[in-house]
Amino acid sequence: MDAVSHAADLLRQGKLIGLPTETVYGLAADASNPEAIRRIFTVKGRPPSHPLIVHLADPTHASAWAALVPESALQLMERFWPGPLTLVLPARQDVPAEITGGQDSIALRMPNHSVALSVLRQFGGALVAPSANRFGHVSPTCAQHVRDSLGSAVDYVLDGGSCRYGLESTIVSLLQDRPQILRPGALSLRELESVLGAGQITLPAGHSTPRVPGSHLSHYAPRTPVYVIPADQLATYAHTALNARRQVGVLKRCDTVLERSPSSALLQFCMPATPQLYGRELYTRLREIDRLGLDLLLVESVPVHPDWLAVQDRLERASGKLDTLTAELLAA
Ligand code: TXA
Ligand code: MG
Repeated sequence: MDAVSHAADLLRQGKLIGLPTETVYGLAADASNPEAIRRIFTVKGRPPSHPLIVHLADPTHASAWAALVPESALQLMERFWPGPLTLVLPARQDVPAEITGGQDSIALRMPNHSVALSVLRQFGGALVAPSANRFGHVSPTCAQHVRDSLGSAVDYVLDGGSCRYGLESTIVSLLQDRPQILRPGALSLRELESVLGAGQITLPAGHSTPRVPGSHLSHYAPRTPVYVIPADQLATYAHTALNARRQVGVLKRCDTVLERSPSSALLQFCMPATPQLYGRELYTRLREIDRLGLDLLLVESVPVHPDWLAVQDRLERASGKLDTLTAELLAA
């Protein structure tokens, strides 16, 4: 039996599969099997209040899950499905509460990956698939990452190579009159605006507002403490951290030159200069850096520009508060 048929069989038995998509690898289960869905939450260590995305084989299947598919949704599906766009729509009453976390809306997406689409077609139903990582950690962008994150808790991992985007899908809510981005992601604001109109989309709230110390729940985060630092302060922070005897790394774009190179003890990691390539490499790099067991990773802030929205969002969610780092280094 080929790998796809095997995966489809396992899904029918209520098993969990590592599934490649164009964004990140998902931990897939039969969307009509509440027991399999509950196991996803256990395996990921995810609170039940975080709802799951339902993955579909075809746009016409949306009406099996959504009570209403507005014209704007049809336009977006027509243009971007299959692709890295998740739509939040009013849920039908018969959608299992295990998927929605009891909310009255449902998140839907049709992935654009030949393996994911083959599995969906062979399986013949819908699949729930959160990113295949433990809750709060970095999403997997290749099959090995899934095995590293979840080990034997996942029944089978399909290997579909490295993910083309490397960042999660963009989530757009169509619950209000005005479309709202809930999570910036692989599909850019510019592309969404080409369908919905420039200035017609509400941007995600909150992620650039200051965080209250201690209340910060990191997400999309590696184990190594990460701090996002403005480019012109990177060298100073690195210098201070080295003086405080911290093993420190700096993640910066290749074209950024530190205004003074603090020491050869500083590990520097170079990232691509474009948002698409930066996004594709980010999670792989963070996993590699985690293996080095550094005390600290200082990440150069990325440009404030709509094309950088998804990368900026993930970095900010992974980052601790700069005040905390300053205080800690000064006390050392
Ligand atoms: O690219 C992706 O979307 C990947 C691949 C595997 O498809 N999946 C993914 O799933 O990122 P997950 O579970 O890691 O993230 C889903 C996000 C969560 O933040 C969840 O809160 C949000 O989608 N979500 C799901 N249903 C929702 C709803 N009804 N309303 C608002 N947000 C929702
Ligand atoms: Mg996730």
